Amino acid sequence: MSWIDDKAHEGLARVREAREAGVYPFFRPFETGGIRTSVAGHHFVNFSSNDYLGLTTHPKVKEAAKRAIDVFACGLSSSRVQATTTAHVELEERLAKYFGFEKALITTTGYQAMVGTVMSLADRDTTLILDNLSHACILDGTFVAAGSPGRAPEVRFFNHNSAKSLERVLKTKERPNAMVLVEGIYSLDGDMGHLKEIVEVCERYNAVLVVDDAHGSGTLGVHGRGILEHLGLEGRAPIVVSTFSKVFGGIGGIILASTEVIELIQHTARSFVFSATLPVPIVAAAATILTMLEDDGVALVEELQANARYMRGELVSRGFDLGLSDTHIMPVMVRDERKAMILHQMLYDRGIYMVPITYPGVKPGEERLRVNITRGHTREEMGLALSLLDELGGACEIRKQDQVAPAP
Ligand SMILES: Cc1ncc(COP(=O)(O)O)c(C=O)c1O
Repeated sequence: MSWIDDKAHEGLARVREAREAGVYPFFRPFETGGIRTSVAGHHFVNFSSNDYLGLTTHPKVKEAAKRAIDVFACGLSSSRVQATTTAHVELEERLAKYFGFEKALITTTGYQAMVGTVMSLADRDTTLILDNLSHACILDGTFVAAGSPGRAPEVRFFNHNSAKSLERVLKTKERPNAMVLVEGIYSLDGDMGHLKEIVEVCERYNAVLVVDDAHGSGTLGVHGRGILEHLGLEGRAPIVVSTFSKVFGGIGGIILASTEVIELIQHTARSFVFSATLPVPIVAAAATILTMLEDDGVALVEELQANARYMRGELVSRGFDLGLSDTHIMPVMVRDERKAMILHQMLYDRGIYMVPITYPGVKPGEERLRVNITRGHTREEMGLALSLLDELGGACEIRKQDQVAPAP
């Protein structure tokens, strides 16, 4: 055995423990797509899906993808530099118009979109300023930029959602140009970015704001244009990055900015230039969902929000702690890794899938079950989840009223 086998064995201790206890929750092989699916014939409703508008399996979306296969097949065998299609260009034009930016660029994943944006725009004249609860794609883009020979930017963090903390960093930064990176909705806590205050500080200090709106695009704002529409801030953030892997039914990244900023990213972002083109069936699926948002966005968003209001009201009235959440992403806080794994397994055995989020996704003591409400969940499904959470969450003492106060 070489050192790499020893390292792997050691690194997998927690995974082995969870498997031996029969509560390992990850990589379950679904037998169909959609929020109602099965594993080895065991049926369940998925509350960990990011298909927030429930459009991923819509017949029109599947038909569009099938038609695109006949023309373009499933791959273009090269990167966008050599393999751009009319479908990519048309969708980029439509996305720019819909979100109100000069230009859009489609990448192969949202992760690559953010890594590419940061690595191509940040250099030694830049201070990158990150919220301390930033998603991995923001952190990794920053790490790549910081490791680029001769270009490394300064890297600073500010306290989560605190405009005051951001301002303190802006006052003491050491490079001339500031780029501030935030999210529309923080995906593990389900809380919105405090962008009104953050935009105002960025404008005062001439800092470029980059908003990752992966979870807000199609879910926030009356028409679904995201956090900027929701907060009345459209036109005040120069760069937005988003994804097709939630509302847009597939996979793929979106970068929105001015024409020249997009063209610079398009020619210099290594994660874009050196990775293969997003397949056209996926582009066709996203284009179909964009049409649905253009035609019926108001109703689609309101149906999602109505489900979210219902579930939030019921969870709160039953005494569950939803942490920082103020959106359709509602983590049920468990604050104990073992309990989170056991509760997940008991719910799964009864037909409800809520993935536990544990370290390193969150700090030890912050463990939770990820509950994502979508437009596609029915009241009956949410009702079943609530009654099981009531019964099993009570048994695991995760609700405030179930917790026995420690002896004085
Ligand atoms: C906040 C945030 N940004 C970016 C991404 C990456 O998106 P994609 O799945 O398209 O790579 C995700 C997905 O997990 C996310 O939650």
